[in-house]
Amino acid sequence: MESALDLFRRAGYGIAGLSGDSRRLIFVSHENDMTFLIVRPSDVPTYVEYGGADAGIVGKDVLMEQESDVYEPLDLGFGACRIAVASLRGEGSNDRLSSKIRIATKYPRISERYFNKRGIPVEIIKLYGSIELAPVVGLADRIVDLVETGGTLKAHDLVEVEVIAQSTARFIVNRASLRLKQEPLMELIRKLRTAVRNQRALSGNGRPSAVGIRKKKMVRP
Ligand code: PRP
Repeated sequence: MESALDLFRRAGYGIAGLSGDSRRLIFVSHENDMTFLIVRPSDVPTYVEYGGADAGIVGKDVLMEQESDVYEPLDLGFGACRIAVASLRGEGSNDRLSSKIRIATKYPRISERYFNKRGIPVEIIKLYGSIELAPVVGLADRIVDLVETGGTLKAHDLVEVEVIAQSTARFIVNRASLRLKQEPLMELIRKLRTAVRNQRALSGNGRPSAVGIRKKKMVRP
């Protein structure tokens, strides 16, 4: 949330009063002629795909999981993390061929696709959070989850076995809105792109900086 707000400020869209701490979920910004909505990260693609919002900010992990039909013009760089397979230390390579391995995850589709492609039979156990607990209590053999610093894995004696994909925050746009509100949306995309480039230049390596905020907000011009 903070990274997204900071990006908007740097792109010239000041949003006085908008805060993730408030109970208010909708902010009208008269100065920018936009309405901002605060929704759960996993709901952002739904709002955008169905036109409840013209555009949104969401992690690539969520987009990969939901396979939503939205336009994805910008990699914003922040919120960098990876989707990885992890298991308890010392149990990384015991793929059982005779029975399915149990995978606990909040990414059932990503997990299923990944293991199917490799011909490994799995049983997916869908969880909504605290995924790292599952192998500790014997609920699953492995997990597929987000890893940023690796601190949560380490705290539960888990190790990364494989990285499935990298994820960063993305700017997404409703396909119909892009045609109907082309001018303001293209201007917004241009300004955000410039702000992202300037930030990358400042960080010196031309690559996105990792900030690690995963609460996302949406924008409706
Ligand atoms: C995510 C993820 C891990 C943790 C990884 O959880 O599911 O639990 O962050 O971060 P780390 O590598 O820096 O330790 P999140 O905070 O989104 O909460 P959740 O468990 O409720 O999904």
